[in-house]
Amino acid sequence: FSVVRRQESSSSSVIRRSFFSEANPERKVAILGAAGGIGQPLSLLMKHNPLVSSLSLYDIAGTPGVAADVSHINTRAIVKGFMSDDQLGEALEGSDVVVIPAGVPRKPGMTRDDLFNINAGIVKGLCIAIAKYCPNAVVNMISNPVNSTVPIASEVFKKAGTYNEKKLFGVTTLDVVRAKTFYAGKANLDVSGVNVPVVGGHAGVTILPLFSQATPSTNALSNEDIVALTKRTQDGGTEVVEAKAGKGSATLSMAYAGALFADACLKGLNGVPDIVECSFVQSTVTELPFFASKVKLGKDGVEEIHGLGSLSDYEKEGLEKLKAELKSSIDKGVAFANQS
Ligand code: NAI
Repeated sequence: FSVVRRQESSSSSVIRRSFFSEANPERKVAILGAAGGIGQPLSLLMKHNPLVSSLSLYDIAGTPGVAADVSHINTRAIVKGFMSDDQLGEALEGSDVVVIPAGVPRKPGMTRDDLFNINAGIVKGLCIAIAKYCPNAVVNMISNPVNSTVPIASEVFKKAGTYNEKKLFGVTTLDVVRAKTFYAGKANLDVSGVNVPVVGGHAGVTILPLFSQATPSTNALSNEDIVALTKRTQDGGTEVVEAKAGKGSATLSMAYAGALFADACLKGLNGVPDIVECSFVQSTVTELPFFASKVKLGKDGVEEIHGLGSLSDYEKEGLEKLKAELKSSIDKGVAFANQS
């Protein structure tokens, strides 16, 4: 290897090497549930991310194949696959960011809460391992119901004495991705320049897109349009579940959203300024202990949690309506984590 390296004396390889070592430090990302519907395309996208130097793919089955496949792609990250409990420690050790899309997805007719019994146990087990093997990692929770799995993770970490509220994130980026797409489509705007904050939680009415703060603003939308866009954003997951007719929930758009959020976390860790994304985090923005809103990401995770800004009457109403459901999902997660 060293011989090949010496022969490769072109200026481009020198530039490439110094770019990685100076601009982009070594970063290990672990994906738990990497062989699943979300896990596989997410692994592909993270392998494509130049900020990742080591990519650890863990699942209870199927990871050797996914890891071998993804590892052949000629990008920076060194890929390793891990399978079964006894390899979980090695998969996690030294991780900077752990992304969790492990668990079962919804089938038609199910709510995210229906997943609770299975996914709560999976998430609890994985978080016990995170506390043991990489207690300082930033955790990106994708497994549903996010409104409960994030509180479960926080309780597990508290019990282990490793909880850092700045490093635990519920991934709600898909709600933002959907709100941007639907808003741009309806208002006939270039979606690449559109931004829409989405606050609250990550299930049904707890998802509250703030179209009054969407940029660029538009006069093209009526109140009825805003109501319809809000409902479509809230039901975006169900739209996909029904279209897939029993074959799972959003995987490709979720992998895109998960990769976007993990990239934002890595940029924050690397000290890139002004990285702001919506996420479900421990919060004092409302009276609820966890809430999604705009969060500034930095070297230690959450650097600043933005307030909600000014809301339309329709959004104020939505905010009051979502609180009871969100509170009960949070309480359910906390209770689950603390039962023996
Ligand atoms: P899937 O069933 O295709 O994949 C899940 C993977 O998790 C499987 O490969 C399975 O072997 C693995 N797994 C199960 N137990 C595990 C354990 N203990 N450790 C490691 N891996 C384990 O499901 P899919 O479609 O990938 O969805 C995964 C989760 O993501 C679901 O809970 C789903 O509801 C959630 N989701 C979240 C979204 C969000 O916006 N946050 C959007 C869409 C889905």
